[in-house]
Amino acid sequence: MISEAIARQLRRPSGLLGRLVGRGMAWHNEFAARWTLDLLDVRQDSHVLEIGFGPGVATEFAWKRALRGHVSGIDYSEAMVEAGRRRNAAALPAGLVDLAHGDVRALPYAADSFDRAFAIHSIYFWSDPVACLREVRRVMRTDGLLAITIQPRRQWPRRPPADVFTLYEGSEVADLLRSAGFRDCRVEAYPEAHRLPCDCILASK
Ligand SMILES: C[S@@+](CC[C@H](N)C(=O)[O-])C[C@H]1O[C@@H](n2cnc3c(N)ncnc32)[C@H](O)[C@@H]1O
Repeated sequence: MISEAIARQLRRPSGLLGRLVGRGMAWHNEFAARWTLDLLDVRQDSHVLEIGFGPGVATEFAWKRALRGHVSGIDYSEAMVEAGRRRNAAALPAGLVDLAHGDVRALPYAADSFDRAFAIHSIYFWSDPVACLREVRRVMRTDGLLAITIQPRRQWPRRPPADVFTLYEGSEVADLLRSAGFRDCRVEAYPEAHRLPCDCILASK
C-alpha cells in the first residue's frame, strides 16, 4: 500500500522527499513515456504539450523527436519544474522546450496551439477531469491527437489512498474524453507484461 505521505508526493512533489519521489518516477515511468510517445506519433515538426511532466523524462524523449517543432510542459509542482528544467537544460536555450509552473485547469496557452498533447500518470489527481480535458482540448488544434496514460484500476493490487488518487479504467477515461468533446477515443493496453501495466487512451479533437 502506498502511504498517504508518498501518495501526496506523487500528486504534487515538494521538498526533499518530493525530489526523491521524482527520481523514482523517472526510473519507473520511462517505459510508459516511450510507449506513449510512439502511440502519439510525435513527428519532427510536432507542437507538443505535456501536462504533469514530473521529472521531465517524457519531455526529453518528446523534444528529441520534435527537433523542428516545439514542446511545452506544465506542472503544478515547483520541485518538478526545477527537476524538469535540469533534465532538459540542453534544449531550453535553443527554444526547443519551455517548462512552466501551472495547473491543467487554466492553461497559459492560446487556443489551437498544439497538434499533440499527453499526460502520463497525472489524471488521477485532476479535480473535475472533464473541465480539465475541455481546457486541454481548447489549446489543441483541430485533428490534434491526445494521449492519456494511466495504470488502470484493475492493475493496482493495492489501492492507493482514495482521498488522493482517483483510479480509472481505460474505458472510463474514454468516457471522460467524449464528455469533454473529443472524438475517435480508443484504449491501447501495454503490448507486453510489465511490472506497471498501463492503458493509453487516445483521442482526437
Ligand atoms: C505521478 S507524477 C507523474 C510524472 C510524470 N508524468 C511521470 O510519468 O513520471 C504526477 C505529476 O502530475 C503533476 N500534476 C498533478 N496534478 C496536476 C495539475 N492539476 N496540473 C498540473 N500538473 C499536475 C504533479 O505535480 C506530478 O508532477
